[in-house]
Amino acid sequence: MNLFARRSMADLQAEVLKDQKLNRALGPFNLISLGIGAIIGAGIFVLTGHAAAEYAGPGIVISFVLSGLACAFAGLCYAEFASMIPLSGSAYTYGYATLGEFVAWIIGWNLVLEYLFAASTVAVGWSGYVISFLKDFGITFPAQFINAPYDHPMPVGAHWWDLGQLFIHGWVTTGAVLNVPAMLVIAVITVLLVIGIRESASFNNAIVALKLTVILTFIIVGAGYINKANWHPFVPPVDADGNFGWHGVVHGAAVIFFAYIGFDAVSTAAQEAKNPQRNMPIGLLGSLAICTVLYIVVSLVLTGMVNYSRLNVPAPIAVAVSSIGPSLAWLTFFIKIGAIAGLSSVILVLLFGQPRIFYAMSKDGLLPPFFSIVHPKFRTPWIAQIIVGVVAMLIAGLFPIGLLGELVSIGTLLAFAIVCAGVFVLRFTDPQIQRPFRTPAFWIVAPLGFASCFFLMIVGLPADTWARLIVWMAIGIAIYFLYSCRHSEVQKRRRRVSASGASEQP
Ligand code: ALA
Repeated sequence: MNLFARRSMADLQAEVLKDQKLNRALGPFNLISLGIGAIIGAGIFVLTGHAAAEYAGPGIVISFVLSGLACAFAGLCYAEFASMIPLSGSAYTYGYATLGEFVAWIIGWNLVLEYLFAASTVAVGWSGYVISFLKDFGITFPAQFINAPYDHPMPVGAHWWDLGQLFIHGWVTTGAVLNVPAMLVIAVITVLLVIGIRESASFNNAIVALKLTVILTFIIVGAGYINKANWHPFVPPVDADGNFGWHGVVHGAAVIFFAYIGFDAVSTAAQEAKNPQRNMPIGLLGSLAICTVLYIVVSLVLTGMVNYSRLNVPAPIAVAVSSIGPSLAWLTFFIKIGAIAGLSSVILVLLFGQPRIFYAMSKDGLLPPFFSIVHPKFRTPWIAQIIVGVVAMLIAGLFPIGLLGELVSIGTLLAFAIVCAGVFVLRFTDPQIQRPFRTPAFWIVAPLGFASCFFLMIVGLPADTWARLIVWMAIGIAIYFLYSCRHSEVQKRRRRVSASGASEQP
């Protein structure tokens, strides 16, 4: 067994031509819309206020720039890979081509955090928003059916190496039974995704149009109510608890990184894209650029409308608008609708991405074959889609948002960092390959992408999140050695070659 066995570029490019089972229905407009669908959600509608009030003040605008830069570096690296290897496995497949099977598995395993766990996280946020929205109309639900039954707070004073403490003593029950709305939204979206890519893309386009209208309306109307005094000081001085200051801005960047997660979901649609060599970079970079500009402007307007200290609420944008008075009640209502719709499309695109990564892993033999079965009529990986839907429902029903959110960020940052490393390595190991899109100044962009992702992981994410990442990786590594490496097509081919006495393939 060779942990660093790679899939050759020739092999991957042959697969691009051969595997046409999925439906090539998406053009550049749909791909940009898919990216925006995945990006704008809980991050901007929920987390921004918390990050501004607790860590960065109006400096949250700079946090958005910093996090956006890290994602831009990673996005440029993704675009090079996605145009060169347009297969649905995304970063997992890029890892296989560059750093070998074991690293590819680790990336694939971390992408489960980015897609499946993130879909559950956003579904929990969706449930909270819908419940508070219905409450405005006097409709309430029993608390035990809208909350998670388990929580897992880190014991006070524990460190990431206190794994025993974390796993044995950490769990508490909340008295609730299940978060039913969070489970329901995943069930409905899963059905839609099984039925077809065209239907899902149209649904996504409609939601993206709605949420962009809401955000643009907020910017235009809100700009008229900015009080510049709220921006002074732009970076509040460090307080008694050590929050704020420039460290707070960086901490804020790690928290709102969640808002950018999802742009890479475009790359999981590579086998359903028309002319992916051209359209993948357009979809990835186009959606990221649009969202980065919107985030910076929204956070500027938000912190200009109300003092940052009043933003530590679950719906900060709606709160900022209602603080203006009853004349803007219509906009508050509109923003809540936009947020609910926005979170739905994030769940949709993340749940779309996960089975496609499993599809690629299954075709490589690292997951069982049923993950790559495509429905003869719908042309979607329906069994993988249903498995992902059921697991995401269980996670969303059982666990609270805080526990899930940071785990999503750390897994995604790790995957992004490895993609940046992969682009760099491949420029030296396979310089001759045709690259329809080339990362500009790769010798600086790729290392900066790698370093900025690690920097956000180290400065921004707490000890218990690192501990959970270690446990998650340990489970993944166990599965790799017990199942994946024994069934790997690449390893089987190597064994056949060495059994026939021929020299080993690289
Ligand atoms: N970026 C997505 C969101 O903010 C995950 O909800």
